[in-house]
Amino acid sequence: MASQRGNWGSRTGFILAAAGSAVGLGNIWRFPYITGENGGGLFVMIYLACVALVGLPIMMAEIFIGRTAQNSPVGAIRSMSRPRSPWMGLGWLSVVAAFVILSFYSVVAGWSMHYVWLSVTNSFTGLSPEQIGDVFGSLYRNAGLNLFWHVVFMVLTIGIVIAGVKRGIEFWSRILLPALFVLLLVLLVYAMTTDGFAAGFKFVFGFHAEKFHPARSTLAALGQAFFSLSLGMGALITYGSYMRRDEDVVSTSIIVCGLDTAVALLAALILFPILFTVGLDPDQSVGLAFVSLPIAFSQMPAGALLGPAFFILLTFAALTSAISLLEVATAYFIDERGWSRVKATLTTGGCILVLGIPSALSGGAGFFGERFKEMTAPVFGQNNGKTWFDVLDSFSSNWMLPLGGLGIAAFVAWRVGNDAREQGFKTGTTLGALYWGWVWLLRYLVPIAVVLVMLNALGVFDTDG
Ligand code: PHE
Repeated sequence: MASQRGNWGSRTGFILAAAGSAVGLGNIWRFPYITGENGGGLFVMIYLACVALVGLPIMMAEIFIGRTAQNSPVGAIRSMSRPRSPWMGLGWLSVVAAFVILSFYSVVAGWSMHYVWLSVTNSFTGLSPEQIGDVFGSLYRNAGLNLFWHVVFMVLTIGIVIAGVKRGIEFWSRILLPALFVLLLVLLVYAMTTDGFAAGFKFVFGFHAEKFHPARSTLAALGQAFFSLSLGMGALITYGSYMRRDEDVVSTSIIVCGLDTAVALLAALILFPILFTVGLDPDQSVGLAFVSLPIAFSQMPAGALLGPAFFILLTFAALTSAISLLEVATAYFIDERGWSRVKATLTTGGCILVLGIPSALSGGAGFFGERFKEMTAPVFGQNNGKTWFDVLDSFSSNWMLPLGGLGIAAFVAWRVGNDAREQGFKTGTTLGALYWGWVWLLRYLVPIAVVLVMLNALGVFDTDG
């Protein structure tokens, strides 16, 4: 079976593919806007703690499961417990989460593609910052345009997954991730020259709590960590299953977490200074990256080149993440149902395409936009009107992924035998001494933290209005 399923070319190949899954819209689009909504500094500190203490141990657990079982999530969990064990619910959750997340992810990736088009055709030159803000607003409301790009992006994703991920992902990740880093550094240098840099830096790293709501913001930080690191839904179990059995789980996880976090922080340090320089409010919701960057590009001498380059890379970053989402759903039908890759990819991709339609229509005035907001106002609060898109975005990150991660932590900590776990952790690594720390985090800190954050968000401790 292992030979039929394929392997990564090398350890670097795995790291780049896993980092390709992790680094995506979550870092450049979602992290800055969630940070903005939750007031900055204090939120970022809690986020970093979530990555180090909750995300990293779960990433190791997922890659460990995949590498050990050499199978996609449902089969992996079955082979490490027993057929029909309740733990297999975790495998099913992965498949469902893949459908849900990719359905709205593709819409945002579509915005990114539209921005490639806009910047290639020089549509931002000569516009004022407000006018650039309006460009995003009108895209957001335009159902037809959203649908069009959603379909284009899904077709691309399906095209790559159908051809087999191995060569595609590994090959492209090798080129695109370093390129993304270089571009981010160039933009960072630009951001450092803006008047708003000091204010932006203070916003991201300063300890201030004006807009921080203890219950809601902590949940958002936890959810963002899961989303950004691709955790809690089997993506890294699936990718880990293409890894050789003697490869090191520990240091690869540390590297992937480190890269992902660096990109998120860089993105925030680029976007906020620019927003502050042109006097915009950091609370720009889903439009933040799509407003801030074009403003910067329209004012930079090299903007006409950097703009298209940046949005192309953002699209590719989204693509390498989307592939991992589609691969989870596809691998299930291949490994468990015996479908051919073509049939599995077309079916899952087609379903996700249809499931994404409501998200694509969410910014408009129809049912999924205005009516949905009105109907759900009693649940989410009048002033917090959420569209279908917003609900999927926050529900999947804040609830599905942390619950999935909690299950994976519990599975590895309590169900997998100590010998297999210890040997698995220590294989190929020089960091074997960390073993008991890892188990302790999975056994105690991860479940306690996730459960407390969730109960708190449900209002059990009543700290937040
Ligand atoms: N981590 C990806 C991002 O940051 C999104 C993702 C979530 C991918 C879950 C796979 C699984 O954009």
